[in-house]
Parts: sequence; C-alpha cells; structure tokens
Amino acid sequence: MLVYRHCLGAISIIRNGSFFVFEQGRNAKYFTFIKTSPSMRVKPVLICLLLFGLLACTHESEIPLPQPDDFDLQVSPFLSLDRTAPDYTVQLPAHLLGFSGAQAKPAVAQLGRVLFYDKSLSKDGSISCASCHHQNAGFSDPEKVSTGVYGRLGTRNAMALGSMPWLSGTFVFDSTGKSLLPLFWDHRAGSVAEQSTAAFTNPLEMDLQISEVLEKINQSLFYPWLFQQAFGDTLVTEARVFTALSQFMGSMSSQHTRFDQAMLQAGATDPVADLPGLTPQENEGKTLYRLHCESCHGGLTSPQKVYEANNGLENPYIDKGKGAITNKFYDNGVFRVPMLRNIGKTAPYMHDGRFADLDAVIEHYSSGVVKVFGLHGDLLTYNENTGNYDPRHLNLDPTQKAALKAFLLTLTDEAALSDPRFSDPFK
Ligand code: HEC
Ligand code: HEC
Repeated sequence: MLVYRHCLGAISIIRNGSFFVFEQGRNAKYFTFIKTSPSMRVKPVLICLLLFGLLACTHESEIPLPQPDDFDLQVSPFLSLDRTAPDYTVQLPAHLLGFSGAQAKPAVAQLGRVLFYDKSLSKDGSISCASCHHQNAGFSDPEKVSTGVYGRLGTRNAMALGSMPWLSGTFVFDSTGKSLLPLFWDHRAGSVAEQSTAAFTNPLEMDLQISEVLEKINQSLFYPWLFQQAFGDTLVTEARVFTALSQFMGSMSSQHTRFDQAMLQAGATDPVADLPGLTPQENEGKTLYRLHCESCHGGLTSPQKVYEANNGLENPYIDKGKGAITNKFYDNGVFRVPMLRNIGKTAPYMHDGRFADLDAVIEHYSSGVVKVFGLHGDLLTYNENTGNYDPRHLNLDPTQKAALKAFLLTLTDEAALSDPRFSDPFK
C-alpha cells in the first residue's frame, strides 16, 4: 500500500507540477493529499523526492503502475462516475411551460453531485448535504428535525428539493430591484450561494467556514479532475462550488408523475377537467384540491401565486418563521408555501415536521386550523353570528379525505427518486 501511495505521489507531481504529500485520510477508505501553493512549484528538493518516488516504484514492487490517467488514478477509486457526465438538462412538457426548465452543464452538475454527497466537507466528516436531503424521500429528511455534525439536532424539518428548478418562477425582488430566489422556510436566503453557505457554516449542520470547505476540496484526490472537467482548470473557488451545487440541485425536477402523465395523455394544459388517466377517486381529489388548496399551493402547472403564508398551525408560533427575520409581528408564523410534488414521500410535514403523515395534514385543513393573528385570508371564513372572521375548517368527510390524499399521491415522481444521476456517487 505504501509503495502504491508513493507511486501515486510521484505521478501526481509529474502531472500537475506541484507537490503532493499523501496522508492517510480520516476515512480509511481513501487517503487525502496536500497540494502545495502554486508559488511552491517543483523545486530541486522536490525533484529529488520525485526521483526517489520513481525509484521506489521501480525497485520495491511488483505492483503494476497505475496508468497515468487522471480519471482512473484519481476518480475511479473513490467515485462511481462515468468519464463523460450524463445530461442534466430539464425538459419540461408543454403543460408545465409556466415553469422554466434548467440548463445545466453536465460536468458542472456532476461536480455538484459529488459535493452534495461528500461527507468530508463537514467538521466531523459525518455529514453531507444528502444526510438531510435523501433522494428516496424527495430530497427531504424522514426525521422530524435533522441531525448535523456530532449528532447535533436542528430545529426545522429539512425541505424537499425535488422541485428546485421550478422555484425560479417564484423570484422576488429586493429593494434594489435585484431578483432573489427565495429559499428556506422563512425565505432568508436569496440564492443557492447564501443557502449553501448557511448549510456549510451552521453549527447544527456541517459547521465549517467556507475557507475550510475549499481547503478540504483542495486536499482531495478526485476534485482536481472534476473541476478540470467542469471549468477547464482545477482552481477551486467559492463561486464554482456554489455554481456546481446550484446546477445539480437545479436539475432535480419531478415532472414524471402520474398526474403529469395523465395531463400529457389528455393533451391538457390546465388541470380543470377530469383526467381520463386518473381514477374517479383521484379526480375527485383533484377537484377538492382545486377548490381548497390551489389558491396557495398553485395550479400544479405554473408557479404558485402565494409563496408564503401563515396556515394556522399554532398560537402563538414557537418558531416565528419570517417574523424572526423581519421582527414584524404580522410576519409571525409566516412560512414558505411548499410545492407538493413528491409530497407522498416527504413526510413528516410542515416547518417543524409536526405531522407524521398526509392524513394528519388533511385533518389540519379539515378541522385543525387555529385562530392566530396573520392567518392567511384563504383560511378564514366569515361568521355571520359573531360578525368575525374565523379559521376555515373544510369539514371533509372520510370519502373526501381519502380522495384528496389519493390525488396528492399522484404527484410522486418515482423516477427522480431513484435516478442514478442524483444518487450517491461515493464508493
Ligand atoms: C443537518 C441537516 C442539513 C444539511 C447537512 C443540509 N441541509 Fe439543506 N436544509 C435543511 C433544513 C432543516 C432546511 C430548512 C432550513 C430552514 O428553513 O431554516 C434546509 C433547506 C435547504 C434548501 C432550501 C430549499 C427551498 O426550497 O427553499 C436547500 C436548497 C438546501 N437545504 C440545500 C442544501 C445543500 C446544498 C446542503 C449542503 C451544502 C444542505 N442543504 C445541507 C437541512 C440540512
Ligand atoms: C393559505 C394558504 C394555504 C392553503 C389554502 C393551503 N395551504 Fe398547505 N401550506 C401552506 C403553508 C404556508 C404551509 C407551510 C406551513 C409551515 O410549515 O409552517 C403549508 C404546508 C402544507 C403541506 C406540508 C408541506 C411540507 O413539505 O411539509 C402540505 C402537505 C399541505 N400544505 C397541503 C395542503 C392541502 C392538501 C391544502 C388544501 C386542503 C392546503 N395545503 C391548503 C399554505 C396553505
């Protein structure tokens, strides 16, 4: 093993013109190497070391020299990737033209995939983005709140990411007119860069400074090849890391659902009429959805109009949501109105994961919405007896509840949840 590592080191010097020292990684599965600063290019003493390395290779071992090919040498031992990155472009069907599809450069999105799954980019080497955003759970976390480094518990339910490209329809503008992508339950991040910085640096999540993240990337054996493919050279910058993550997540699109198939089959652009591709029960659920849920959660074919609201979960709100950011009392309890694609897979529900299943969610809208200041108008109803506005309870009967649930379950994109392009590439 030692000899093998020695050879690898020697070859790396030849190929990159800088000096690498191997050290055993924390994770015994792979070892890292330290790259000297560009100013310390090959110096005489290093050339000696290089020669020593080569001698060691020829003398000591019968072990065949790895082919001096960066991919086989630097990437394949650690990652199950193809030399050529797959296509990550999102092609949306006609009925989803209200959303914009994502344009991703394959190698950039692929780099994003590796970053997304890389546990070494956290303080204790145990947490990656995917630790809280599980592909088979619509890129959300089946736990109520997620566990970060050193077993630290977070405070909110991890958000599903299966509709990231679709969020672009919900751009908001700041006071200077700059468009922002509102991210997080309270929309406090205006871009993937801000959101990812928060994930990397949050002590309850990955707990590293961005400079430390870049340093860890620089120490790895496989990133030079990936950066080279993605950006044409091996330079690791903050902006490139965020671009890669952004393009990877921006390709997570969930349009291969039974609902979308039924829309395509019917050649429909608006889900108004019953769809022959759905069962009568699912169609009844669709009607209920359009009646009671669509005003906030959207028509499922275009971005929703209301992108944040108070939906009457509790009074007072323990987590004030947007109110904690703006300090405006009327923002207390205001949270993102989430998209409902893959909703059957992303339990538990709401910002605090309070509802374990869809039955509990439907019961909330049927009987549980509480009276609280700031409750969204669509969840209020005029009480003729008192002359006040009360929380609206849909009082759905069991058949209606089952129908609504059946419809929500047609919104799952099974293909996206097992698509190898979004799976863990680490060996
Ligand atoms: C320890 C768990 C954890 C880790 C690790 C984590 N996340 Fe998250 N993620 C969350 C939680 C919780 C939220 C919601 C946070 C909030 O609203 O305050 C979230 C929200 C997000 C969102 C916002 C989605 C939306 O629709 O607004 C994105 C995007 C995201 N995470 C991507 C990432 C990326 C990229 C990484 C890795 C760099 C990462 N996450 C690491 C738990 C985690
Ligand atoms: C007034 C706007 C509004 C209406 C109407 C509305 N919702 Fe919501 N919905 C929200 C908000 C806001 C949240 C997030 C609240 C939170 O986490 O604090 C939410 C959350 C959810 C969630 C959880 C999503 C997740 O990722 O955790 C589901 C499921 C849901 N709603 C389904 C429905 C259904 C079904 C209906 C119709 C019966 C409906 N909603 C009507 C605003 C609304």
